[in-house]
Amino acid sequence: MKIFKSFNILNKEINFNEKVGFVPTMGALHSGHLNLIKEAKKKTKKVLVSIYVNPTQFNNKKDFQNYPRNFNKDIIILKKHKVDYLFIPNHKEIYKNGIIKKFKIFKKDKVLCAKSRNGHFEGVLTVVNRFMHEIKSKYIFFGNKDFQQVYLIKKYLQDKFDTKIKICKTIRNKNKLPLSSRNILLSNSSLKRSEKISNLLFNFKNKILKKAKNVKLKNSYKKKIIKLCDKLEYFEIRNSGNLSSNIDKKKFKIFVAYYQKNVRLIDNV
Ligand code: PAF
Repeated sequence: MKIFKSFNILNKEINFNEKVGFVPTMGALHSGHLNLIKEAKKKTKKVLVSIYVNPTQFNNKKDFQNYPRNFNKDIIILKKHKVDYLFIPNHKEIYKNGIIKKFKIFKKDKVLCAKSRNGHFEGVLTVVNRFMHEIKSKYIFFGNKDFQQVYLIKKYLQDKFDTKIKICKTIRNKNKLPLSSRNILLSNSSLKRSEKISNLLFNFKNKILKKAKNVKLKNSYKKKIIKLCDKLEYFEIRNSGNLSSNIDKKKFKIFVAYYQKNVRLIDNV
């Protein structure tokens, strides 16, 4: 596995005329990331993974400091899975002109995490824009667990670049909790409670699919979720096409964001 620290050398050494799949990550790799790599391998000749914990997408300094970092283990995992290239830029490489956000998102898009994590997606779009500008891969891969992230990347970046955006399914543990790098920060009891929340989401979705959505039903699920976490940030049903609150019965998703102690988790079904 070749390791690069600068766009310059990466672009000299990788032949992007060959089909290359790019998987951007913030490290602390788990089976969700491995699924992105597997999907990239299916479609491309070579796979490039990046590990960069992007400071501008954290709206809270402590959250940035506490974000899990597992660099040595990540390298072993990537080598084991025969990843061809690894990119590990530093802050200067990404933010030549100071650590600032380049993007603004429309008021209309300030829902769910964009409302509760002020500036988060502006930071995500800034770094993904920089990656896509410099790395001319055939495809770039993201997981559907971060549904709103993917929605906004498509909306704001898709038309700017030739790289095709590929979305891969959410990978869950055997008790339905979506895999996330943050899960390793959970105590055993918080993990169990989070698994119950994910199960409630599936259960609620099935009920909505069987009969019309009703406010009382939503409130009763909300109460159950509140009991299973330390703070509920949001629990919402939204149109999966445009994230508006205009629900189409066939095209909707249930979104949740909550805290277990100081660990913030999200899910959508
Ligand atoms: O989903 C993530 O891990 C990050 O938001 C991303 C896309 C690597 C940008 O920092």
